[in-house]
Amino acid sequence: MPTVVSITRSRKEVPAPLKRLPKLTAPLLRLNGLCPYYTMFPLSFPFDALAASEAGEWVFDPFCGRGTTILAARLRGLPSVGVDSNPVAGAIAASKLAMVRASEIRALARTILEDANPGPVPATPHGEFWEKCYAPKTLREICRIRNFLLVQCSTRVEVALRGVMLGILHGPRNKSKPTYLSNQMPRTYSTKPGPAVRYWRKKKLEPVEIDVLDAIDRRARFSFKQVPPSMLGKIITCDSRTFDFARLAPRYSWVITSPPYYGMRTYFPDHWLRNWFVGGPNDVDYSAEHQLSHHSEAEFVTDLATVWKKTAEVCLAGAKLICRFGALPSCEKDPRDLFERSLAEAKCGWRITTIKDAGTSQHGRRQCDQFGTGKNNPVEEIDVYAVLE
Ligand SMILES: C[S@@+](CC[C@H](N)C(=O)[O-])C[C@H]1O[C@@H](n2cnc3c(N)ncnc32)[C@H](O)[C@@H]1O
Repeated sequence: MPTVVSITRSRKEVPAPLKRLPKLTAPLLRLNGLCPYYTMFPLSFPFDALAASEAGEWVFDPFCGRGTTILAARLRGLPSVGVDSNPVAGAIAASKLAMVRASEIRALARTILEDANPGPVPATPHGEFWEKCYAPKTLREICRIRNFLLVQCSTRVEVALRGVMLGILHGPRNKSKPTYLSNQMPRTYSTKPGPAVRYWRKKKLEPVEIDVLDAIDRRARFSFKQVPPSMLGKIITCDSRTFDFARLAPRYSWVITSPPYYGMRTYFPDHWLRNWFVGGPNDVDYSAEHQLSHHSEAEFVTDLATVWKKTAEVCLAGAKLICRFGALPSCEKDPRDLFERSLAEAKCGWRITTIKDAGTSQHGRRQCDQFGTGKNNPVEEIDVYAVLE
């Protein structure tokens, strides 16, 4: 069953759409950095793509990741729908729609920590991982919040708390007040249990007990200091190849998206600890069942074609498709060729108007920087513009 999170707004609220993106460090944009996600595109990409949008037009992203398109639409004052098969992506994206005050997030976290049942604490497999990743009290508190949110996570405050927790679940240790709950780990991806334990042993790193409520409070006050006006929106955690998009009422004028780059199949394993927090197993999940197929080039193209066709069916004539796409260098594939073949196979009216290299973004980091392939082995990225005829 797909998980759906919708956020509605009161009729009285009339959001003022943003015409220009402020500096990325502006409090209004902090929500964008709530939690990292592999291969997210820069906020300026969907925001600029929506420059010609008009009030009331709906925006769609069938591979929404952490919801960058959803946030850009909200900033532009446009309603949106995002779909992603990765529950971590769905959870982060849903928090991009939340209209909450930091004090509400703290109040909910405090209530849960005081009242909720602790529930099970992971011990196997990888017992040493769990012992070394979190101090025992910190892990119990994380589990209290996790177990509560697994039972109910539908209100805007619950959705925002889950986003905050995903953002602080793991990351580097700092010398001052700890920002992250874990032992030393990157914040972008979760290290696998074996390598993590070996690293902590080698460096003699033991987990520090963290005041979870304080860490939540600080992150919530930072990320939700100023949020854009609330907007209608929906995030659906499901497979875009099979979910019936027509079940959702709107007809879309804009599709702004970035499908998995060809060869990029590790969205679940790379986020395995966050995946555990949102209800996944206590272990790395290597299944890629609900991701576009990477078994062969032909299957990938067919999967993509399926999504373009289903998307066209719920778009208005004249709708725009704006897409950033690439292929990992190890695959030695031309992303233009893969993309053009997928649209040709879809035979559904999307006509490409422009394809250009995405390489010279003047607005912050390129998306491929997230792959960590290094300057000598760059991912080739393209931006495709198409119109529905
Ligand atoms: C390049 S990322 C999108 C990143 C997004 N633009 C952002 O800024 O966060 C591609 C996404 O497609 C999702 N995905 C892969 N196969 C999918 C499928 N069959 N249905 C829905 N989402 C899928 C992945 O989970 C991943 O989050």
